[in-house]
Amino acid sequence: MLNISKLEVSVEDNKILKGLDLSIGSGEVHAIMGPNGSGKSTIAHTLAGNPNYTIESGNVLFKEKDLLSLDPSERSLEGLFLAFQYPIELPGVSNASYLKQIVNVHRKYKGKDPIDASEFLKILKEKSSNLNIPIDMHSRFVNTGFSGGEKKKNEVLQMDLLNPDLVIMDETDSGLDVDALRQTSEAVNQLRSSNRSFIIITHYLRLLEYIEPDYVHVFQDGKIIQSGGKELANKIDTEGYAT
Ligand SMILES: Nc1ncnc2c1ncn2[C@@H]1O[C@H](COP(=O)(O)OP(=O)(O)OP(=O)(O)O)[C@@H](O)[C@H]1O
Ligand SMILES: [Mg+2]
Repeated sequence: MLNISKLEVSVEDNKILKGLDLSIGSGEVHAIMGPNGSGKSTIAHTLAGNPNYTIESGNVLFKEKDLLSLDPSERSLEGLFLAFQYPIELPGVSNASYLKQIVNVHRKYKGKDPIDASEFLKILKEKSSNLNIPIDMHSRFVNTGFSGGEKKKNEVLQMDLLNPDLVIMDETDSGLDVDALRQTSEAVNQLRSSNRSFIIITHYLRLLEYIEPDYVHVFQDGKIIQSGGKELANKIDTEGYAT
């Protein structure tokens, strides 16, 4: 699914990623844990194609394509999805029309007709209800004035509507209440399949108790310094990174 090799990335002339290697097979769930400021979101932004992140060296293959040569919209259409740590507000664009638009752009890319309005509403109601998102939230502008947790739920809803091949969740659990954490995890677990992979960036063991990762990586100072299974997350939870 994804093969990152010797990736070095800088932001405003500061090197943040310093030789990242990571391979993710189809159907695998990889958790990335690491201290604040170590560069975890930098990985997410780089993979999504944020132009503020400069690739110094290395390469990334996504489904055997050269990911770094694709523009951000092509990466999305090819099946990469990033749930942002800090979702952005889009004043002036209603959430319902935004969600319908992204669904239709993806359908068009796959050669499908636009979704029927009543069919879309039915799907939107069902998926929103699973995430405990009130339906009238969709008549508001995208993320504008949404609470922290509502923004995170809206990211998960977009993931659920787009059926991506590779999902990157950047601290989606931060800011969610206990019920929302469980509902979000259930939505992710329902999407787990042998041909969909996940990178889950988190600080907390709690999320990984709901979404069992296949691999856990410790990311520090721009690279992965340790990899293991779920037990590594337990160790970090009790011992921290400093030891
Ligand atoms: N525009 C910028 N100019 C200078 N430094 C930046 C800029 N953007 C990010 N950085 C720095 O890059 C480093 C990595 O940031 P990043 O957001 O990837 O960390 P993180 O591991 O996601 O942290 P957290 O756990 O707090 O979310 C930080 O030290 C940050 O201050
Ligand atoms: Mg971050």
